[in-house]
Amino acid sequence: METRITKIFHIDYPIIQAGMIWVSGWKLAVAVAKAGVLGLIGAGSMTPELLREHVRKAKAACPERSWGVNLPIFFKFADEMAEIILEEGVKIIFTSGGSPKKYTRRFKDAGMTVAHVTATPTLAVKCEEAGVDAVVVEGFEAGGHNGRDELTTMVLVPQAVDAVKIPVIAAGGIYDGRGMAAAMAMGADGVQIGTRFAATLESSAHENFKQAMMEASPTDTFLILRRLIPARVIVNEWAKTILAAEARGASEEVLINLIGEKRTQLGMFDGDLKHGEIQIGQAVGALKTIKPAGDVVREIVAQYAQSVKRLSEL
Ligand SMILES: Cc1cc2nc3c(=O)[nH]c(=O)nc-3n(C[C@H](O)[C@H](O)[C@H](O)COP(=O)(O)O)c2cc1C
Repeated sequence: METRITKIFHIDYPIIQAGMIWVSGWKLAVAVAKAGVLGLIGAGSMTPELLREHVRKAKAACPERSWGVNLPIFFKFADEMAEIILEEGVKIIFTSGGSPKKYTRRFKDAGMTVAHVTATPTLAVKCEEAGVDAVVVEGFEAGGHNGRDELTTMVLVPQAVDAVKIPVIAAGGIYDGRGMAAAMAMGADGVQIGTRFAATLESSAHENFKQAMMEASPTDTFLILRRLIPARVIVNEWAKTILAAEARGASEEVLINLIGEKRTQLGMFDGDLKHGEIQIGQAVGALKTIKPAGDVVREIVAQYAQSVKRLSEL
């Protein structure tokens, strides 16, 4: 299958396994890369030296296939990590959570392929102006940090496609071949999938978190911290305290205190399902089995082909 995304990233199918804190290390990135799609190591929960280790392991395990790194720009180690990414000769970078102007020129000058994640058509234009090779537009359904404007993927993707000339990668709520076919029908050149890949054997999510994904219904997630830094999470005891504080108009300071330290690690990596922050998308309600990531890729690709066939026969 060939699109502008398969060409620029040298992959067989236009699918990107999203960068995810605590979830996507080198093992997941390499597993999907070996199945012919792009794997991203999520740097946003690592120390700089741990990122170097993951990059070196991916290089050793998968020199022949495409994988890259997701770097959240607001992360306290972002500058140091950008240097490590350059030193280690990483070829593909997806930046997110900040201005695409911050690192794009440097990474492009080093010969890297750069994509940036954003959540409105207007910001997609800013990414294009900053010189990125592709833009990820992520809708309201998505797991993890989310745009403030709450555009759904269905509304966002076609308008982003109309707004820019560079390839658009659709994200948010896409978890199978039907969703992928819908995104491609709306003009995307590829899809980025997070939640579905969080529930795989190679994901480094805690087993409790994986089990919670199997049991969740589509209505179990909610967007919290809408005024501060919106995040889609499973509504647990901790999230309820945040929602209650937001409802009574708590100040930023109070909310920051309620988040405290290491909240995402506690939930997603240490497996405390009551008190930790458990980021996941609305698609979680559709997850029924934990499988090898390569099998997930093959299922999505096969179902995509069936969906396209079905459409062509209508
Ligand atoms: C557990 C989890 C962690 C995430 N962490 C990050 C991250 O570190 N950086 C980032 O750019 N996006 C992050 N995201 C968002 C994903 O990269 C992706 O855009 C999103 O998951 C797509 O929507 P979906 O979850 O409906 O597939 C995260 C998502 C999840 C589910």
